[in-house]
Amino acid sequence: MYPRLTRTLLAALCLCGLGACSSMPSASDSLYQQLGGKAGISKTVTMFLYQVVDDDRINHYFAGVNADRLQKRLTNQFCQLSGGPCHYGGDNMHKVHAGMHLTDADFNALVEDLILAMEKRRVPISAQNRLLGKLAPMHAQIVGK
Ligand code: HEM
Repeated sequence: MYPRLTRTLLAALCLCGLGACSSMPSASDSLYQQLGGKAGISKTVTMFLYQVVDDDRINHYFAGVNADRLQKRLTNQFCQLSGGPCHYGGDNMHKVHAGMHLTDADFNALVEDLILAMEKRRVPISAQNRLLGKLAPMHAQIVGK
């Protein structure tokens, strides 16, 4: 009925089959996939918390904190932020960090620890940057409160 349209669609399908569509967004391009799905994110968060505990600049903030609960909440938060099928059920960032009087130096130290954890887990640089880009806007809700 529409021979030209049909031919164009068929040609597009063939090209895609040959890999010409590899630059189109697909599920495997999602940040969630790049981070290794929920299992990969969970391992990165565990590594991140090891870095934080080892970091004398900020580990005093975490004394007495329920590490298991924090691990699960951070995993769900990063999973949801990266487009994964998770639900972050914790409090909002302002409420959680209120009263800690966190500084830029504290924030930067924590980000450095996250980068070290991602490096150790061999998370691709592009995924590291994408995750950090999602966390950066939280600065205003966390620092100086
Ligand atoms: C982008 C930066 C940050 C993110 C995404 C983040 C995220 C979170 C999340 C999801 C929780 C768990 C919330 C809950 O239990 O409902 C949490 C708790 C906590 N965060 Fe952060 N945080 C950030 C920065 C910081 C910094 C810079 C510090 C201190 C250096 C810090 C110290 C803490 C502490 C001590 C807790 C535990 C609070 C408690 O369970 O009583 N956070 N954070």
